[in-house]
Amino acid sequence: MEAHKQLTIGLFGFGVVGEGLYKVLQQTPSLKAEIRKVCIKNPEKKRDAPASLFTTSREELLSDPAINVIVEVIDDADAAFEIVSTALLNGKAVVSASKKMIAEHLPELLELQEKTGQPFLCESAACASIPVIRNLEEYYDNDLLHSIKAIVNGSTNFILTKMFEDKLDFAEALLLAQQLGFAESNPKLDVEGYDAVNKWAILLNHAYGIVEHPDNILFSGIQNIQLSDATVAREKNYDIKLVAQAKKLTDGTVAAFVLPQFVKHDEPLSFVKNEYNGVVIESGFADKQFFYGKGAGSFPTASAVLSDIAALRYNYRY
Ligand code: HSE
Repeated sequence: MEAHKQLTIGLFGFGVVGEGLYKVLQQTPSLKAEIRKVCIKNPEKKRDAPASLFTTSREELLSDPAINVIVEVIDDADAAFEIVSTALLNGKAVVSASKKMIAEHLPELLELQEKTGQPFLCESAACASIPVIRNLEEYYDNDLLHSIKAIVNGSTNFILTKMFEDKLDFAEALLLAQQLGFAESNPKLDVEGYDAVNKWAILLNHAYGIVEHPDNILFSGIQNIQLSDATVAREKNYDIKLVAQAKKLTDGTVAAFVLPQFVKHDEPLSFVKNEYNGVVIESGFADKQFFYGKGAGSFPTASAVLSDIAALRYNYRY
């Protein structure tokens, strides 16, 4: 068997996910993946890692021939796209967690992959710890995939759970989601459904090969849900959840949307509480399957990034 290359990583971003990855990699020595340099915006900020690891120069990572993998976990979608495109064009494999950037630039990213032949992996961009992208990509046959119904945003699910089960008000629940590192830096992206629809655009691509800009997918968030709505629903054995749904129609087209929905208490998605996500897949022959796991947070997201790094090793022979 061919000897593995060393996985030498240039990491962009040392926030909730980047720092999580740094810590996770310290516990996975057999993967033989090491972070060579981390590019950050603010060099003054105190970080729990050697100062020599950090730089503010993108070029230092993107032009370093020793770095063969760029991991990009930053917040700024425009900067993320520039970093990812340059990295692919420079012959580096890329792992990205930037949901917004990926959803908004799917056509260009697919073209870049085609042109450069470099791997671009983004398991952490949807449903964090749940290995849903790789399963949709590799396990399911497009023709046989009847429907997917999912909770893809941890913060809104956390807020709804805290409001309806622990009787917190919306602002308290949101603050808690922010303190726990689940929410986006602009939490409007979670609350108003933008984050969920970005993830849905990515999952639709991996499930059905659909390339659709998130602006063209019908969506709403939880901004108009009141405690009284949930009380009425619960009396009738329903919960209210922010559900992303895709269904193949008889003519072969796929109807897809992200909307708050009533979920009956015996349905798998009603068991998905707090920052957890869940995905119910119905397909020919395999029938119905339910994936469940943490959908937000430092280590669950870092674990999905780690799975992409491992996939480079095992699927792409790095
Ligand atoms: N803000 C996101 C969420 C983080 O709550 O699901 C994980 O993508």
